[in-house]
Amino acid sequence: MAGLRVSDDRDNITIASHRGPYQVFFENGGRRLLTEDLESGAHFVVDSTVAELHADTCLPVVESGRAVVLTATERTKNLDRIPAFAEALLRNGIRRDTQLVAVGGGITQDIACFLASILMRGLSWKFYPTTLLAQADSCIGSKSSINVGAVKNSAGTFWPPETIVIDSGFLGTLSESELRSGIGEIIKVHIIDGPQSFDRLAAEYDRLISAPEVLGDAVRRSLHIKKRIIEADEFDTGPRQVLNYGHTFGHAIESATDYSIPHGIAVTIGMDMANYVAVEVGALAPDRRARMKVITDRNSRGYEQTPIPFDRFAAAIKSDKKVSASGITVILPDSQSIPARVRLPLDDRFLGLCGSYLLEERGRHVA
Ligand SMILES: NC(=O)c1ccc[n+]([C@@H]2O[C@H](COP(=O)([O-])OP(=O)(O)OC[C@H]3O[C@@H](n4cnc5c(N)ncnc54)[C@H](O)[C@@H]3O)[C@@H](O)[C@H]2O)c1
Ligand SMILES: [Zn+2]
Repeated sequence: MAGLRVSDDRDNITIASHRGPYQVFFENGGRRLLTEDLESGAHFVVDSTVAELHADTCLPVVESGRAVVLTATERTKNLDRIPAFAEALLRNGIRRDTQLVAVGGGITQDIACFLASILMRGLSWKFYPTTLLAQADSCIGSKSSINVGAVKNSAGTFWPPETIVIDSGFLGTLSESELRSGIGEIIKVHIIDGPQSFDRLAAEYDRLISAPEVLGDAVRRSLHIKKRIIEADEFDTGPRQVLNYGHTFGHAIESATDYSIPHGIAVTIGMDMANYVAVEVGALAPDRRARMKVITDRNSRGYEQTPIPFDRFAAAIKSDKKVSASGITVILPDSQSIPARVRLPLDDRFLGLCGSYLLEERGRHVA
């Protein structure tokens, strides 16, 4: 890639995709590269919070007349907001040969990826992930996910970026709960990778937030684990579905709480809920759940008192895209603690287990 100063080639990751390989660069001066993108005539989609907190690098971008600045909320990531963004990019003069550059977290990524995949039947795009969640997880995998009405991530496309630039300097302005949201996805892929990976992460859990090099290492490991899975099943027809571990429950928690719990923290609670269901259906030994619970509880602290109304949770889980006439596909850990696909009837027993979890674990904060 022209002009990109790469600090250490061994760090970079190449991901295979149906549109050819794309690259993840770890570049601590990465924010400066935005200036080069600006000079190259690129167009931008930028998170307004990032624009403000990182004004030193983002201000020229925002003032270029080629940037769409958005408020990163789930409401913004809705299909009904897409036409206005598309019109704004066209008004700014975007053409078939211009690159669209996204600067923000997973929400900005989803919107930019979706727009890049539909405008002019497909534009090249580049991504500067600015949240830990986006750096450690969502930035690779080709997917855009857009909400339709109240149903989260129910529309989308597969359209990988050409380049991803990971600059850990963006993370300095994240709140602790946004950092723990990203750590939720890091925990997820380490559990998927197996007990050894999980134990290693559990041992360094306390240092993830205090020691940048420990976090940086965990981010790289997470991307390598996800790379193996998405390269084996880019279009999510089978093996990739294990990445939904914690997500069926997590999305229902997000929806039932009006998205007041950050995504990766809802996923963290969702993983413990999946582990609870796995124990109740006899798939997982209670002591194996307990080992994971030490970490999932610590990662979701601060949200113990957020009410999760059961009726709203149940309504959300029934509208999940993995529900069909024959039941629901959930990812539950097996006897070796490895998450695997399980098809369960979406009946009173299943919903009863979800309700018992909420009652037992969250007590009076269920509703
Ligand atoms: N497409 C995919 O493959 C994929 C995968 C996982 C998650 N997601 C989606 O990503 C979203 C969650 O991503 P996220 O957690 O990155 O959310 P986000 O984009 O909403 O960012 C979280 C919050 O952090 C703020 N923020 C962003 N960067 C910041 C920075 N450097 N400093 C301070 N604040 C900053 C944002 O403005 C926002 O308020 C969800 O909608 C989820 O469905 C998509
Ligand atoms: Zn997620």
